[in-house]
Amino acid sequence: MEEKQILCVGLVVLDIINVVDKYPEEDTDRRCLSQRWQRGGNASNSCTVLSLLGARCAFMGSLAPGHVADFVLDDLRRHSVDLQYAVLQTEGSIPTSTVIINEASGSRTILHAYRNLPDVSAKDFEKVDLTRFKWIHIEGRNASEQVKMLQRIEEYNARQPLAQKVRVSVEIEKPREELFQLFSHGEVVFVSKDVAKHLGFQSAAEALRGLYSRVRKGATLVCAWAEEGADALGPDGQLLHSDAFPPPRVVDTLGAGDTFNASVIFSLSKGHSMQEALRFGCQVAGKKCGLQGFDGIV
Ligand code: ADP
Ligand code: FRU
Repeated sequence: MEEKQILCVGLVVLDIINVVDKYPEEDTDRRCLSQRWQRGGNASNSCTVLSLLGARCAFMGSLAPGHVADFVLDDLRRHSVDLQYAVLQTEGSIPTSTVIINEASGSRTILHAYRNLPDVSAKDFEKVDLTRFKWIHIEGRNASEQVKMLQRIEEYNARQPLAQKVRVSVEIEKPREELFQLFSHGEVVFVSKDVAKHLGFQSAAEALRGLYSRVRKGATLVCAWAEEGADALGPDGQLLHSDAFPPPRVVDTLGAGDTFNASVIFSLSKGHSMQEALRFGCQVAGKKCGLQGFDGIV
């Protein structure tokens, strides 16, 4: 039997990336060092990384016709990402992000442009053949709909023997109240530094201790904290930590979090422990930070 796939549900966007030697000041006129188009969006980036790591993966998110869609679709196909469950919408366009990467620090500043593209719905998700997937990762967006998707997986899992159950993770990256209902779903919950800070926590460890009561029984909460690495807290109450793996020079941190999430999922899906997965996540994400884009992470 073919190995089951990993499905990532969330956004695909076009990143228009401008690399600069100095962050621009308002009302000035200067040249960037380089500019490129790159497929982006958290779930889409995580698919790129999973595919580069050698996992069979699928993307479920909204698409629309047009030049931007042609570009991102072409790139998804180039990375062998299965698009069977991508949803072609009849209104809106693929979002674009203007990204400024400061070559000196590798930091990224993102300006989002959403273009009225509806998110995939629980109804779209009903078409997903759950038997094909060993892991489903959901990037928190239209959370109320996503809760229904998660409930569908939970009901399916309740009827399966352990080995056939779909493992589930969710990502809560944006500090939006609506997304917080996702804490109580999934075996692994990725919460971002942004959300942690928004909720008043000063470190990953503090955030995990403060937020753990929100996850469901048996789940593990994971929080990455840029150059400080990442922490995880599971049902045994033991706080796990991995240091970051800084590259020789940080050139591009765009998608570091998506790389980390994908690598943690990849490692766990291979049966490794959470400690091993954290370390692997930081290793691959650290390597990514030393490269422009994702090619070369493995
Ligand atoms: P994002 O801001 O893209 O969501 P994070 O800042 O949370 O990502 O970082 C995710 C992971 O990427 C971190 O746990 C770390 O392992 C790695 N990482 C991010 N920034 C750096 C950096 N400057 N140096 C080394 N590793 C980094
Ligand atoms: C990076 C990223 C970019 C995109 C933005 C969308 O994590 O996915 O590729 O522009 O975030 O929120």
